[in-house]
Amino acid sequence: MTSAEPDTAAIRVRDLKKSFGPVEVLRGISMGAAQGDVVSLIGASGSGKSTFLRCLNLLETPDSGEVWIEGELIRMRPSRRGPVPADHRQVDRLRARCSMVFQSFNLWTHMTVVENVIEAPVHVLGVARAAAIERADALLRRVGLYERRNYYPAHLSGGQQQRAAIARALAMEPKLLLFDEPTSALDPELVGEVLQVMRSIAEEGRTMLIVTHEMAFAREVSSRVIFLHQGLVEEEGPPESVFGAPRSERCRQFLAGGAKGRRNGDAPVK
Ligand SMILES: Nc1ncnc2c1ncn2[C@@H]1O[C@H](COP(=O)(O)OP(=O)(O)O)[C@@H](O)[C@H]1O
Ligand SMILES: [Mg+2]
Repeated sequence: MTSAEPDTAAIRVRDLKKSFGPVEVLRGISMGAAQGDVVSLIGASGSGKSTFLRCLNLLETPDSGEVWIEGELIRMRPSRRGPVPADHRQVDRLRARCSMVFQSFNLWTHMTVVENVIEAPVHVLGVARAAAIERADALLRRVGLYERRNYYPAHLSGGQQQRAAIARALAMEPKLLLFDEPTSALDPELVGEVLQVMRSIAEEGRTMLIVTHEMAFAREVSSRVIFLHQGLVEEEGPPESVFGAPRSERCRQFLAGGAKGRRNGDAPVK
């Protein structure tokens, strides 16, 4: 638990659990982030990082536990299939506050960059098209893509696609930005341009949860780092202590193993 109070925290999670069939993937995760915190989630492949992020914006439904976004508890109700969100309007509202950036970009391929960016503001938030385009252009300048605003995703590099996806996420003016390994699908030479954009967003004071294997980046931008191991928080603290002096032996091993893209038990990647 952190010191952030439920009413002022950007996000607060208590004892979140999630199984897929017999496999208990999240075994009781508690964490919190204050407004403006940048929290990095690290851990071996399969430790539950993506599932955790997906539970926060209800792409997956948690089996139990509680999630507050800006002090608002996501209300669940029991059903024959297990717990389900109690109020779909609440889910829509909270999702709009909480944008996610995926490893595989997930841009709409039949839309240009600028159309991708205005889609949700126009159709979910009801922003007028002209105003949405003006805002999109400002965001595209910010991520260095204004000149490509009329390109289709297929005609962009991976780094450009991911920067477009970040602009799209920002267009919702989210209170919370979730990143799920945003640079893992990129060629190494394209990673830096995406991290640079993320760094500038972090400096702006937006609350971010970042699943990443970029340890140097996590160390530099994070206010806190959480190491997940087999569905539990195994180590948590400021980057200096998690990276500099981890208490957990598993965390030490993970960091020593050259964390990139490893599965539980794999040999370290050289
Ligand atoms: N939709 C799903 N159905 C069944 N198993 C899943 C599903 N999503 C994830 N899992 C399993 O949950 C575990 C954790 O996955 P994930 O959250 O993707 O881990 P990470 O992002 O840390 O690599 C893995 O064993 C994975 O196979
Ligand atoms: Mg994952």
